[in-house]
Amino acid sequence: MQKFSLLFVLALIVLACGGGEDTSSEAPMAKKEAAPAAKDINVKKIWKVRCIACHGLYGDMGTNGAANLQESTKDLDYRINIIKNGSENGVMTAFGEILDEDEIKAMAEYTMTFKKE
Ligand code: HEC
Repeated sequence: MQKFSLLFVLALIVLACGGGEDTSSEAPMAKKEAAPAAKDINVKKIWKVRCIACHGLYGDMGTNGAANLQESTKDLDYRINIIKNGSENGVMTAFGEILDEDEIKAMAEYTMTFKKE
């Protein structure tokens, strides 16, 4: 009788564990950490909202004496500065409080693209 109940218990254990191997062989789902998305700065949109009134779509409109960006030879630092702090004569607005550093730099780079070869 003793032997029989021992077999019974063993059988239960085997049953309980049976099939366990199948699920454990399943590969864990590859966990992909989403890379922090590079900030998406829409320069064209900012241009149309903030800059077009004076500089025009192509940078050469010159409203209020705005510099012609197709002819400008100013370097990137100069552009970053004028966008951030405005023009010395006060005509061009300072965007330092409206746009962040990355946006200002992106806009400065964007104004370089108007230049005609
Ligand atoms: C209210 C009109 C006005 C708006 C709006 C304006 N600008 Fe200007 N911008 C000017 C004027 C005027 C100058 C020339 C200033 C000077 O010569 O001192 C200028 C000059 C510049 C220059 C220097 C180019 C050069 O050769 O001197 C850059 C670059 C520039 N603007 C970019 C921008 C960007 C980018 C925006 C939008 C974020 C913008 N501007 C919005 C009026 C404006």
